[in-house]
Amino acid sequence: MNTINWFERLNHTLETYQKDKHIDPHRLQYHLMPAVGLLNDPNGLIQYKGTYHVFFQWNPFGTVHGAKCWGHCTSQDLIYWQEHPPSLVPSEWYERDGCFSGSAVEVDGDMVLFYSGNVGHDNNILETYQCMAVSHNGFIFEKKGPVVLLPEGYTSHFRDPKVWKRDGVWYMVIGAQTFSQEGAVVLFASSDLKKWELKGTLAGNRINGLIDFGYMWECPDFFELDGNDVLIVSPQGLEAKESFYHNVFQSGYFVGKWNVGTTEFPHGEFIELDRGFDFYAPQTFHDQLGRRIMLGWMGMTDEQEAYQPTIEKGWVHALTIPREIELKNNRIIQKPVQELQKLREGNGFQCRTSIEDETKTWPELAGTVSEIKACFQENQADTIKIEIRKNLSIVYIQHMKRLTLERKRFIDGKIESRSCFLDKLEDLHIFLDTSSIELFVNGGEEIFTARFFAEATDVDVFITADGRVDATLEKWNLRNPKEL
Ligand code: FRU
Repeated sequence: MNTINWFERLNHTLETYQKDKHIDPHRLQYHLMPAVGLLNDPNGLIQYKGTYHVFFQWNPFGTVHGAKCWGHCTSQDLIYWQEHPPSLVPSEWYERDGCFSGSAVEVDGDMVLFYSGNVGHDNNILETYQCMAVSHNGFIFEKKGPVVLLPEGYTSHFRDPKVWKRDGVWYMVIGAQTFSQEGAVVLFASSDLKKWELKGTLAGNRINGLIDFGYMWECPDFFELDGNDVLIVSPQGLEAKESFYHNVFQSGYFVGKWNVGTTEFPHGEFIELDRGFDFYAPQTFHDQLGRRIMLGWMGMTDEQEAYQPTIEKGWVHALTIPREIELKNNRIIQKPVQELQKLREGNGFQCRTSIEDETKTWPELAGTVSEIKACFQENQADTIKIEIRKNLSIVYIQHMKRLTLERKRFIDGKIESRSCFLDKLEDLHIFLDTSSIELFVNGGEEIFTARFFAEATDVDVFITADGRVDATLEKWNLRNPKEL
């Protein structure tokens, strides 16, 4: 489809949606999401000429995965996101079935995007092209076509270029599958962003001691963080073990030391970035305040995707809140960016409390779009349980040193859970947005991200302790960024 027809179709879709628009209790308020259609990975994250740009995988024409374009939003403060027309739409032969994920860099005042052109054929045969597009203003892009073709040794599951500069050289990592069905990350180098030299496999299954580590690795990101090198990747095909890898696909990272310019990257173990149900394909960028900020897709291509109740309203999925990341003891710590505090309404609610073999609730804790902080001082309780909106429970069992998030499945309302080992529960920092929770545990050492679909009238939060716990509670209702 040519670009003009594509935009005509988009305008028609948006007009139809506006006409049909009715109250939607699950529509998120402060998360980045498009008006209609299916969103997945964050793409091209960059602060360009002072403005934050977030692009995202978007199928505006349905709530299924399809020929994606790059949706586009900008923000001055990471809070209020202004929507713009899509920046890349599938119009050329090399991207006929989707402008897939990729990244952005700034070069001599221009914004340059790298993305995967996806071409599908019958029998699941794919072609993949790593493409480039250039813009003088960050809004209108000129496509330059493929700059990297599929090298030998890999299947056409070869995509999601992330580009960066180090010591004067441009590098690109690509998510890949080898011919022997091993997930891998492939490294390229360039001096001009147009000609790319294949360096080889930077990391992957059967490298650096990894065994059974997936048949495909998607969406790599590679960057320096606090003196180390971090490779984020989303492997497919990991088997669940203990409390790990319970989602259909995972996202996590390796910390190591890169021998710059080579494929030598000795690294430590794979650590999951999120322990919840809905987190995938994150990407990071470095902002002008020197922060490394990450956004992920708050979704998952699992069997429940098609059962999300928002589908009947014409949309599905959102991005996570922006999170600042840092390394502490070789682990990534995630914190909601401090700009989010601007959303807090008034002084909020604060109280100190003891809960002992009882369930307590406060009318002030109730709400659907809110931030709750709970700090636990004296904890003699064996179990602490926080029940939210009759749909979610956060449960810490001290003798098992286990923290669990339970939610109701979208398919049948049955309870399902995700857990992590936690030596001691110190604090919980919860962001609720009508139908999402992002739970930061112990200052961001563990995070659980999940969607849930409660009745709009179920707003209460209950805290139960089996034994005694002393806690400080804080809560703010959060304003809609459009009303700031
Ligand atoms: C990850 C992913 C990427 C691909 C994109 C397509 O969710 O599968 O590998 O580029 O989504 O939308």
